[in-house]
Amino acid sequence: MKDGKLEIGFIGLGQRGAAYGMTDGSIGLLGNVLKNSNDVIVTAICDRFQERLDAATQKIVEHGYPVPRQTKDYTEIMNSGVDAIIISTSWDMHVKVAIEGMKAGIPVAMEVGGTHSIEDCWKLVDCYEQTGTPIFFMENCCYNKDEALVTSLVRNGVLGDISFCQGYYCHDLREEIAGGIDTHHYRLKEYMEHNCENYPTHELGPIAKLLNITSGNRFTKVVSMSSKAQGMKHYIANNPKYSERLKDAEFKQGDVTTTMIQCENGETIFLKLDTTLPRLYERGLTASGTKGFYNQTTQSVILDNIDHESTKYKDMFFTQENYSEYLPDDWRTITPEQLKSGHGGMDYIMLKNFFHCLKNKKPLPIDVYDAVTWMCITALSEESIAKSSMPVDCPDFTRGKYKQRKTVDVFEFPKIVK
Ligand SMILES: NC(=O)c1ccc[n+]([C@@H]2O[C@H](COP(=O)([O-])OP(=O)(O)OC[C@H]3O[C@@H](n4cnc5c(N)ncnc54)[C@H](O)[C@@H]3O)[C@@H](O)[C@H]2O)c1
Repeated sequence: MKDGKLEIGFIGLGQRGAAYGMTDGSIGLLGNVLKNSNDVIVTAICDRFQERLDAATQKIVEHGYPVPRQTKDYTEIMNSGVDAIIISTSWDMHVKVAIEGMKAGIPVAMEVGGTHSIEDCWKLVDCYEQTGTPIFFMENCCYNKDEALVTSLVRNGVLGDISFCQGYYCHDLREEIAGGIDTHHYRLKEYMEHNCENYPTHELGPIAKLLNITSGNRFTKVVSMSSKAQGMKHYIANNPKYSERLKDAEFKQGDVTTTMIQCENGETIFLKLDTTLPRLYERGLTASGTKGFYNQTTQSVILDNIDHESTKYKDMFFTQENYSEYLPDDWRTITPEQLKSGHGGMDYIMLKNFFHCLKNKKPLPIDVYDAVTWMCITALSEESIAKSSMPVDCPDFTRGKYKQRKTVDVFEFPKIVK
C-alpha cells in the first residue's frame, strides 16, 4: 500500500491491458484504472515488448503518477511489493502467471479466455486451495447491464424456473487474427492449431451464475461441433496486406462452433462461437423459464401474461426497458463518463467491485471454481470435436463442494415484491 492506495502490477500490456495499437477509442484496463480508480496506483508493469512497456509508462506518467517499475519477466512483478496483479496476457500464459502470483501471496485478477488443458485447471484449483490467495476471473460480461437485468429477473422469479439458456460470441475477428502476423496477437496461432469453443466465458459466465453453477448445480456433459474453416482463407486471399505473407497458413478452427452443455439440475445451454465470417457483434443471451423468456438480441422480456396468438413478435422488441427497476444500484448511478470507460461501463463496474472486495477483504464473486469450470469448456469442446462430437464429461473442480456452496452474485439485486 502507498498512501492508503493499493499498489497494482500489470502483466500483459497489449490491446486489452493497455489499449496498445488500438485506434477505436478503447482505453484498456490500464486506462480504466488510471481514469477511475483513485484508491489504487499502478507501480509495476510487465510485457515482452519494450515499446509496450514504454507506451504504458507514458500513460501512467501523463495521469500524474510516478514512473512504474518495468520488467519483461513476470516473475519480477511478484517481488515488486504490489498488493495485486492484473493479468491480460495471451491465453496460454494466464494459468502460469496466476499460479506464480498466488504462490507469492499476491491476489490475482485474471483476464478471460478458454484453456486447452484440464490439468492446468486442476493446478489452479490446487494452488488456490494450498495458498488461499484470492483469485478473481475478470469476466466483465457478468457486470453488463443486460446480464444484470436478466439475472435480477431470474432471482426475483419473474421468468419462473429456467430450463434453457443460450449465448453467443459472435464477433468478426478476421482482421485481429490475420493481423497477428504484425501485432504478435496470439489468436493467429490459436486459430491455426486448435478447433474448439475457444472463447466461451463472455456468454457462459453470466449463464453459469444465473443457473447457480458451482453452487448447487454443475455442468455434466459437453457436446461440440464445428463447421468447416473457410472464413480466414477467404479473408486472407482477398486482402493484399496478408495474401502473400499468409498464403500458406492453414486454419484448424471451424468458422462456427456450436456447443451444448447439460447441467445436473436438468437445464441445457447452447453456445455459439462465430468469429471468422462477416457479421455484427452479438452475445444473444437468452433465458427461457416457466413464466417467461429474455432475449438480449431483441432486448425483450416476454412473459406468460401476453396474448401469444395475437401479439406480433416484433412488438416485443426493446421491452426490457420496462424492467429497469430490477437493475442493481451500480447501473442506476453510473455516470456518462464511467459509461465511456470500456465496453459501455461494465469494465468500470467490474474493476470497482474487484478493488472494493480486495480493500474490504470480501470474497471475490467470480472465484477459482467459476474460472476453471467456465474456461475448461474450451478443452472439453476440443475433445468432443476431435471425437466426432461425442459427449464429454465435465470435471467437478469443487470436488463435491458445489452442493453446499452458496451463490455469490456479482451484484446485490433489488428485491421487488409484486
Ligand atoms: N474481457 C474483455 O472484454 C476482453 C477483451 C479483449 C481481450 N481480453 C482478454 O485479454 C487478454 C489479452 O488479449 P489482447 O487482445 O490484449 O492480446 P494482446 O496480444 O494484444 O496482448 C497480450 C499481451 O501480453 C503480453 N504477453 C504475453 N505473454 C507474456 C509473458 N510471458 N510475459 C509478459 N507479457 C506477455 C504480449 O506481449 C502482449 O502485449 C486475453 O486473455 C483476452 O481474452 C478480454
